[in-house]
Amino acid sequence: MPLSFLKKRKSPLWDRIHSDDATRLRLKYDTYYHIFEDQSGTKVVKDGKEFVMLSSNDYLGLSNHPKIKEAGKRALEKWGSSTTGARLANGGRIFHRELEEKLADFLGKEACHVFSAGYLACASSITGFADRKDLLFADKNLHSSLWSGIKLSGARCERFAHNNPDHLREILEYEDDSVEKIFVLEGVYSMEGHIAKLPEFTKLAEEFRAFVVLDDAHGFGVLGNSGRGTADHFGMTDQVDVLCGSFSKSLAGAGGFVASTREAIDYMRSHSKQTIFSAALSPASCACAQAALEIMQEEPEHRARLQKNLDRYRSILSGLELDTWESETPAIPIVLGEKEKVYYFWKALLEKGIYAIISIAPGVPPGKDLIRTAISAAHTDEDLDKIEDALIYAKTKI
Ligand SMILES: Cc1ncc(COP(=O)(O)O)c(C=O)c1O
Repeated sequence: MPLSFLKKRKSPLWDRIHSDDATRLRLKYDTYYHIFEDQSGTKVVKDGKEFVMLSSNDYLGLSNHPKIKEAGKRALEKWGSSTTGARLANGGRIFHRELEEKLADFLGKEACHVFSAGYLACASSITGFADRKDLLFADKNLHSSLWSGIKLSGARCERFAHNNPDHLREILEYEDDSVEKIFVLEGVYSMEGHIAKLPEFTKLAEEFRAFVVLDDAHGFGVLGNSGRGTADHFGMTDQVDVLCGSFSKSLAGAGGFVASTREAIDYMRSHSKQTIFSAALSPASCACAQAALEIMQEEPEHRARLQKNLDRYRSILSGLELDTWESETPAIPIVLGEKEKVYYFWKALLEKGIYAIISIAPGVPPGKDLIRTAISAAHTDEDLDKIEDALIYAKTKI
């Protein structure tokens, strides 16, 4: 017989969980965490209905590339599913080192460390270097992974206006010369599609002797020679002290990296808890990333197709006079400015078989509520026709 009087009294935390408004609204409007029962290229299927995916970050369209799938299968066969432990304790494998050497070489850095998620890599790019007594300067529109790293570092952080070197200078001029300074930037801002004003930022870094951390999750594969990224695009790889990024965008995989000098990577391996205490990147993910990296260099046609699709998509958007926040890259927001408009626009796209993501304040600045879209080399001409028709329709709904 159950002894109900002995039942544990519930923690008040359960009240918070039951009555949480953010969760209630999310479930009510059913805007996130969708499950697709099938996928083929850019097409995803939900509840039996097919959608063209217009928000994934598969910029080069490599997620179904036969060479990548083959590399993943071979690694799984040879090495099994996981190395089941952190590298510091259980050791890395020869395939980790091989990928790190190839990636470092490609990026124009001496050394690299790969992680099981871009999020961990980007957080580590700060926790691995910043000390409590340092001073961080962060673009106010940074990705959550970098904010996590900033918070975990315990260092003081000053925010500057998005992609605004003049504002950064104003703040810098108030600060003590003797404190160590670290700039935290993104190469391509994932929501806005803006390219960092790296020449101006690196000039400031030189003047104020600041250390520069650049998250290039969305520039890698897209900008620079063969997709070497934003720093390469500006010819400024040497002016960026630490580069980090993700495999889940252009490389169409899972994992991430931090690249810098040999000495700096060794230092990060001693100081970043995310590097020390998190399990190694899996054999299959490592092999897929390495194959994708090779394809990026050997098959320029993917970038060429991306550019072609991008030109067409941009002309559709500008023909419809939609506000794209001056995006310069394949990550393209459609700014509608009010969350109700965003919701109706998004619903209309869904109705017409197009899947995109809603992003509303506080995720974006007030007045910038938007639909986040991204174009891929894998989009076909028919996909783009369908996207155009759906956008025309959605515009009539707001
Ligand atoms: C700018 C930026 N940095 C880091 C990450 C984290 O990468 P991942 O999703 O591969 O963990 C993302 C992913 O959304 C991102 O957009």
